[in-house]
Amino acid sequence: MTQIVNPEQINTIFNRRYATKKYNPDKHIPEQDWQAILTAGRLSPSSNGYEPWQFLLVKSPQIKADIRPFAPGAVNSLNGADKLLIILARKGLTYDSAYAKSWVEQVQGVKYDQNSPQSQGFKAFQSQLLKLSTPERLFSWTCRQCYIALANMLTAAAALDIDSCPIEGFNYEQMNQYLADHQLMDPQQWGVAVMCSFGYRAQTIPPKKRWPLNKIYHEI
Ligand SMILES: Cc1cc2nc3c(=O)[nH]c(=O)nc-3n(C[C@H](O)[C@H](O)[C@H](O)COP(=O)(O)O)c2cc1C
Repeated sequence: MTQIVNPEQINTIFNRRYATKKYNPDKHIPEQDWQAILTAGRLSPSSNGYEPWQFLLVKSPQIKADIRPFAPGAVNSLNGADKLLIILARKGLTYDSAYAKSWVEQVQGVKYDQNSPQSQGFKAFQSQLLKLSTPERLFSWTCRQCYIALANMLTAAAALDIDSCPIEGFNYEQMNQYLADHQLMDPQQWGVAVMCSFGYRAQTIPPKKRWPLNKIYHEI
C-alpha cells in the first residue's frame, strides 16, 4: 500500500500540535473538519472495541460560564476556542453489563451470550490479567482509553491546521456534580475523563522542548 503521509509530514504534524494558550475567538472550524476530528475519536481503538466513551460538545454559553470557576486550566480555552469538548468515560463496563450486551448486539450485530467464549474470555481478561476488581479500577481503565481518543483528535486537528489543548486543569468532583445536577450526564453510567478544546491560535507556536530520543527510547 502506498504511504498516505510520509515521515516528514508526520514530523510536521506532531511539531505543529501545540497546547494552545491563546485562541482567536473570531475563527471557526469548518463543519467538515470538525466531523473529521470526531471521526478520529470515534474510530479510535479501545479494549475489546467496546468504545467506552461519549463526547460532549459544550455549546451553551451558560454552561461555559458555570464551569469557569472550577476549571482554571480551561480558562484560556473558554476565552476563545471554537469548540470545548468533554470526554466521558463509561463506568461499570464488565463483560456482563447491559452496555456490553447492547454493544455486542447493536454494534457487532451478533447475539449476546454471557457464556460465549468471547464473553468469558473478556471476563478473564478483566479479572485475571488487568485485575479490574473495583469500580475505581474499572473507571480508570475506561478513562485511559478515552485518552487514546483524545490524542487521536488532537493529532487529526493538527493535520487539519487546527489548534487544540488537552485539559485536565479542573475540579473533577465539581465537574461531575455539575453535569449530573444538570442532567447532562448519568453519574451511574459516566464520569468525566478529560476535556479538550479546538480552534485557531492567536499566538506563535514555540519550538517543542522534549528529551532527545536516546533518553526515552531503548532497544532491549
Ligand atoms: C492530559 C493532559 C492535560 C492537560 N491539561 C492542561 C490544562 O488543563 N490546561 C492547559 O492549558 N494545558 C494542559 N495540558 C497541556 C500540557 O501542558 C502540554 O501538552 C505540555 O506542556 C506540552 O506542551 P505541548 O503540548 O505544547 O507540546 C494538558 C496536557 C495533557 C496531555
